[in-house]
Amino acid sequence: MLTTRPRGTNDILPNEIHIWHFLEETIRRICAEYGYKEIRTPIFEHTELFIRGVGDTTDIVEKEMYSFLDQSNRQLTLRPEGTAPTVRAFLENNLQNQLLPGKVYYFGPMFRYGRPQAGRYRQFHQFGVEAFGSNDPALDAEIIILAMDFYHRLGLKNLTLLLNSVGCPECRKKHRQLLQAYLQPVLNELCDTCQGRYKKNPLRIFDCKNISCQRLVLNGPTIADNLCESCSEHFKQVQIFLREANITFQLDPYLVRGLDYYTHTAFEILVEGIGAQNAIGGGGRYNGLVEELGGKPLPGIGFGLGLERILLALQEQEVDLQVKEKPHLFIATMNLEGKLKGFKLQAELRKAGFKVEMDYLDRSIKAQLKYAGKQGYQFVAILGEREIASESAALKVMDTGEQINISLVNLIPYLEGILKFKGTGFQGGLENDRNDKGIY
Ligand code: HAM
Repeated sequence: MLTTRPRGTNDILPNEIHIWHFLEETIRRICAEYGYKEIRTPIFEHTELFIRGVGDTTDIVEKEMYSFLDQSNRQLTLRPEGTAPTVRAFLENNLQNQLLPGKVYYFGPMFRYGRPQAGRYRQFHQFGVEAFGSNDPALDAEIIILAMDFYHRLGLKNLTLLLNSVGCPECRKKHRQLLQAYLQPVLNELCDTCQGRYKKNPLRIFDCKNISCQRLVLNGPTIADNLCESCSEHFKQVQIFLREANITFQLDPYLVRGLDYYTHTAFEILVEGIGAQNAIGGGGRYNGLVEELGGKPLPGIGFGLGLERILLALQEQEVDLQVKEKPHLFIATMNLEGKLKGFKLQAELRKAGFKVEMDYLDRSIKAQLKYAGKQGYQFVAILGEREIASESAALKVMDTGEQINISLVNLIPYLEGILKFKGTGFQGGLENDRNDKGIY
């Protein structure tokens, strides 16, 4: 127990963190390009926010929330998603009265108590964006384009973009009646949950995982076939803007999404090859949510992308992100005197911006070189007895095994020259400082 993490959670280990940093940097860059600023909301919120926001007949609220009472008996929930908290923050901080559209993004852990399997975790990470204050179908398209652009920048292929419109409350009312009438004769054949949904929220039946419910609803009236004129026009325009941007999509009249706040455009992105949990992102409009949570009517649209699933897909497609940045220099020492010199040198090099480490395990030079190689160091500066006596270091290029002797005062300018730009890799051959080959 003490050495086991909770079911459905993952450790992100030091040897894989560079991939997460890369994802985060790509997120920051792309969001800056599209004009979205970061928002950070708490990891937990009042439970009521999700009941009202996500909907009390959704799987998330019915079965998947991590809810608890705090020491003062407040009912709180670890956030299962980021849209309701973003709307709450928007309202609480009066952002709806500032510059519109308000365009924000977030990146962080979400929590859902589902049955863990490949691609489904109890703690997972989402990259999400939300835009408030505009009902322009071009913005719907921009949001979808942003998601697709993100996947493409990572090098992901074989994606399917599913698109639907779930209409406005008016079309929903009409559709609800049609669907209820259609299902009335087979009501007893629906699963228990869907019998409840039939009365409260029949659209949710489209989202049931139960095959027999899916079959019963399959030929029923879809919301997409029952859109009012204005919803239909909005949906058409979204498609025109997407085609204009050369985005391929598939219309899916059965796509209703697992959260209740959606209106108009709804979309989901699927990827091949990662098993049943193949939705790597989804989103849509939620023009009623701000009002539902106590604000003045204000349209909104956004998406959430599952980063673990994206990483699974990248792995499956063998995409090499090429993001591992090699650290610069390891200082290898043999005795206390060398260690003292190395310690001072290490501080100077770090001050100059180099990524440097030295040995703290009193290992042999051979073992230190092995360690430096495994850590990906580009150079090792060896401070042996001979080097200490001549105030120099034996500088070894790890890729080629080449080695020169260099005086310590010249080391920093030498490395600066050879690395050309800080943070990039070594690109050329060594020029001997003193022209005497070392022995290591
Ligand atoms: P969602 O479809 O519930 O939408 O989640 C978005 C994405 O998060 C999914 O497509 C999937 O990639 C990932 N995801 C969901 N649950 C899990 C899980 N248990 N394990 C791993 N990944 C998971 C939302 O959350 C909405 N808030 C999206 C949105 C933002 N709509 C408008 N704005």
